[in-house]
Amino acid sequence: MTPTDSTRFASQTVHVPLSERSYDISIGTGNLAEVGRWITSLRSVTHAVLISDDHVARHYLEPVSESLKSEGIRVTKLVVPAGEPSKSVATSQELWEKALADRVDRKSSVVALGGGVIGDLAGFIAATMTRGLDFFQIPTTLLAQVDSSVGGKVGINLPAAKNIVGCFWQPRGVLIDTAVLETLPKREYLSGLAEVVKYGVILDPEFFEYLEANVQPILDRDATVLQKIVARSCELKAQVVAEDERETTGLRAILNYGHTYCHALETVSGYGEYLHGEAVAVGMLCASRLGEKLGVFAPEATERQHKLLTALGLPVDVPKLDEAAILSAMQRDKKVEHGKLRFIVPHCIGKVVLTPDVPQDVAMQAWTDGYAS
Ligand code: NAD
Ligand code: GLY
Repeated sequence: MTPTDSTRFASQTVHVPLSERSYDISIGTGNLAEVGRWITSLRSVTHAVLISDDHVARHYLEPVSESLKSEGIRVTKLVVPAGEPSKSVATSQELWEKALADRVDRKSSVVALGGGVIGDLAGFIAATMTRGLDFFQIPTTLLAQVDSSVGGKVGINLPAAKNIVGCFWQPRGVLIDTAVLETLPKREYLSGLAEVVKYGVILDPEFFEYLEANVQPILDRDATVLQKIVARSCELKAQVVAEDERETTGLRAILNYGHTYCHALETVSGYGEYLHGEAVAVGMLCASRLGEKLGVFAPEATERQHKLLTALGLPVDVPKLDEAAILSAMQRDKKVEHGKLRFIVPHCIGKVVLTPDVPQDVAMQAWTDGYAS
């Protein structure tokens, strides 16, 4: 069977064109029950190492496992504690050893069932076990459906740095069932919306307008609107990844709009205080104010983002934190080159530019101007 057979398991399919690493993202509502047939339509799978966390497992591990078994697939179920600490060397070692104990071999596949933590961790296990196993993603948070399951970045954390050990390991396919978002806690759902807004600002003014016009159905997790926003976000990310898979040309860096401020906020406030999307919301507004200060972005466009993010229940004010610590955290950003701060700066809704040589005092003014008045 060809990969396009996966269209049978979705109301919408987004293709990620990466030559021999190309794959489809199959997006539907209620298609989780068909995961077994979906996987066998893509590859001949006889053994699946199914990795999940204890929150997600409670709802979805058995249905997914049963669906795989009904296609004659032997399933090894591995469940880790929910949360960022599971993206660790210790958990990886535990998973490698348990997979080995259950006779993993080079024909086995890894299936990630969970949010971004599980996608990153299971992808890392897939990339490293027996020097690389086929990998399938079933993302269950909004953030994972619109961002982390697309593009092949997998990895774990070290105590001193997040996502510092890892690689690019593209999945063979991604199955998105937007119905699983019904069980996602509200705060996690809203946090994922920040990345959705990000796609509108960096690439697609019409999509941004669509979000502005559909705030209530988005908050209500309306099935039709969810399909649309997940699919459009995946399409936009897929376009960027297809052109700059390994972040070598600078294009993929635009996905980091707002993230220099966001990472500084996450670091200085202490991981866990802000969910990632919440910090992205605050960071995007800092980057917009930076655009204003550099004379390339209109204040009205910052205002539109402020209004939309507020309506979506996301934080917008910068909290009062140690400013020297914020600056020092920004200086450790991956985009810093030869000690110079570089930011993804918006020029209009739908266009951002990687901007080198941003003076530190201007970058910090864009931060402090965001304090609640
Ligand atoms: P997460 O995976 O920790 O999930 C958030 C919480 O929601 C967890 O408690 C989880 O158990 C629970 N959950 C997940 N799906 C659920 C569902 N359907 N119903 C009920 N509960 C559910 O967090 P996340 O925000 O999805 O991912 C964050 C991670 O993603 C970070 O580690 C980040 O580094 C990574 N990330 C990776 C990329 C990438 O390109 N690889 C991009 C962005 C973020
Ligand atoms: N989340 C940023 C990237 O995938 O490149």
